[in-house]
Parts: sequence; structure tokens; C-alpha cells
Amino acid sequence: MALGIKFAPLFIPLRRRLQTAAVFYYCSNFLFSGTTVLIFLLYLLFTPYYYLSLIYLGWWIFDQETPVRGGRRWHWFRRLPMWRWFAEYFPVKLIKTTDLPADRNYIFGMHPHGILCFSHFVNFGTEGTNFSQLFPGITPHLITLNFQFLMPLQREQFSLTGACSASKESLEFILRHKKGTGNAVGLIIGGAREVLDTIPNTMILTLKKRRGYAKVALENGASLVPVISFGENELYQTMHHEEMTIGRKIQEKLYKLLTFTPPLFLGRGIFQYSFGIMPFRKEVFTVVGRPIFVEKTPHPTDSQVDELHEKYLKELTNLYEENKMKYGYGDIPLKIK
Ligand SMILES: *[C@@H]1O[C@H](CO)[C@@H](O)[C@H](O)[C@H]1NC(C)=O
Repeated sequence: MALGIKFAPLFIPLRRRLQTAAVFYYCSNFLFSGTTVLIFLLYLLFTPYYYLSLIYLGWWIFDQETPVRGGRRWHWFRRLPMWRWFAEYFPVKLIKTTDLPADRNYIFGMHPHGILCFSHFVNFGTEGTNFSQLFPGITPHLITLNFQFLMPLQREQFSLTGACSASKESLEFILRHKKGTGNAVGLIIGGAREVLDTIPNTMILTLKKRRGYAKVALENGASLVPVISFGENELYQTMHHEEMTIGRKIQEKLYKLLTFTPPLFLGRGIFQYSFGIMPFRKEVFTVVGRPIFVEKTPHPTDSQVDELHEKYLKELTNLYEENKMKYGYGDIPLKIK
């Protein structure tokens, strides 16, 4: 401790440094890399290397379809050692409760969102936790905000993991038009709305009024698999409140305006442990539940959608109740709103 700041020791094993670097890389992608690259490309326009920016712009325009056409999934990118280090940092553990037959397509419902979706990204977007070994024959595509596919560089990386943008067209491409079976989309159903409920020692999911996922499942005959990450909410100290404090009211207004909210959170730094953007090194257990098999229903009625939604909520609640003791959530009630 010096000046009340807790510093990291100077001699840290290389492996731990690599873990920190991998997680820092991911955080910086969200927080500032995209903007930095964008500014750099704009700057180049005023130099003799302006053609590099123009070439990239050409590529950017040419490539707009990729995020709604299954992404540009490259297995070697998903298998980079960096993602293994990323998973080891916390560590994140992927736990399967049952086999998933590869002769059908799936929608994985992933909960909760957390601040930066660390576990969902590493489990579903990479091989850092051995997804393909655990679920042979299943090809996962993480679904993420369209915004991610606007930023230079970041869009290329996301595409390489197989990630696609959040639109009906994009989901239908993977679940209906893509060849073969075993195609899966990973939907963070609560979305950015759930960021506001990222409060340590709670599990508050935004789900009651979300039915779009159930409709897409019926229309495409995709089976639903609930996924819960125990520990994702504990990775930062947040200044979020469940009650309608003034801060929360402002955040809610911003959410309505922007469809996302700047989260208020505090993690640790790279060289010290007292403050920063880095998440805490805390274990996250991602439990993949049993699938709900869904028959293809080209034009589902409202009541069919409601029925499937209720079934999903029940299965998700069971998954939570069956696993909460094992993963340190024994005293924490599941709240679905
Ligand atoms: C993933 O699989 C490899 C090879 O089988 C193994 O060495 C490694 O420990 C596994 N990683 C995890 C996180 O389970």
C-alpha cells in the first residue's frame, strides 16, 4: 500500500501477465481501440498514406454483408492461445449438463449480460474454454450489437470469431439458410438493458417482456438452450442500484434515449489493484442447461409464442435453482423482470 493504493507485485509469473494482457486487450477494444483506429485512419487521410484509409474504407463498404451472413468464422482465430489466457484470468469454466444433438439448430439464451459479457464472449466466441470439444458438431455464433460492426478493426475481429449482428435477417441466415445443422446463435436476451442490473450478489434478468427470441425459435424450428454465468455480476464493483435512486433514474432516461447506458463501474488496474477498468480475478461458472426442443412453426400464434416463453422461463429457473448452491449463489434469489 502506498497512498492508499494497493500495487501489484513487480515479479509476476509470465502466464499471469499474459492473462492480464489478453483481458486488457478485450476491455480496450470496447472502451477505446475502435475510436483510436478511427482517428488514426482519419489522420492518415491528410498524409501521403491517405490511400491506406481509402483502401480500408473500400473494404468496409464491400464487407457490410458479412455480419448478417454468418460472419467470417476462422477456427484458427477462435483457437488463439490469447483466448485461453483470457479464460484463465478469472478463470471462466464452461460446464455442460447434457449433450446437444448436432442434428438440429439452437438458440442459446445467455444470462446475465454483466458489464462486458466476458464469459459469454470467451465461451461462445472463442475456444478458450473448449466449446467445440464439449459440444461437438455445434457451430456457435455470438450475436452482438450492430454497433460493434461499424468500428474498424473491432468488426474484423468479431467477424473472425463467428459473431453476427443482432437482426432478424442475421438470425434467419444462421438458423434457416445456412447449410447443415448444429448451427447455433448465442443471444444475450436481456441485452444492454441488463447492464443496469449488474450488481454484485444479485441475479436480476430482464426477460419477462422479451418474446422475440421465442418467436424466432418457433419460426425456424431452433431449440432453446438456457445458459447462466454464475459470477459474471461479481467481476466489477458497480454503482448500480435496483431501487430508483437519482443515478438510476438518469441511467434509465439515457437508456431510453440511446438504447444503451454508460455503466458505472470500478474494477482494478494493471499495475495496481485499487481502481481501473480491469475486471477482478474471480471465478465464473457458465452452466449450459438442457435444450427445449422446438418444432418448426412457420407462422406461430401469440399464444404459441407465450407458451414457449413460459416454458423457457421455467427451464431457466430450474437451471438456476439446481446450480446456485454449487456456484456460490445459495442465498441469492433469481429475479426475472
Ligand atoms: C481444453 O482442452 C485441452 C486439450 O484437451 C486441455 O489441455 C485444456 O485443459 C482444456 N481447457 C479447459 C479450460 O478445459
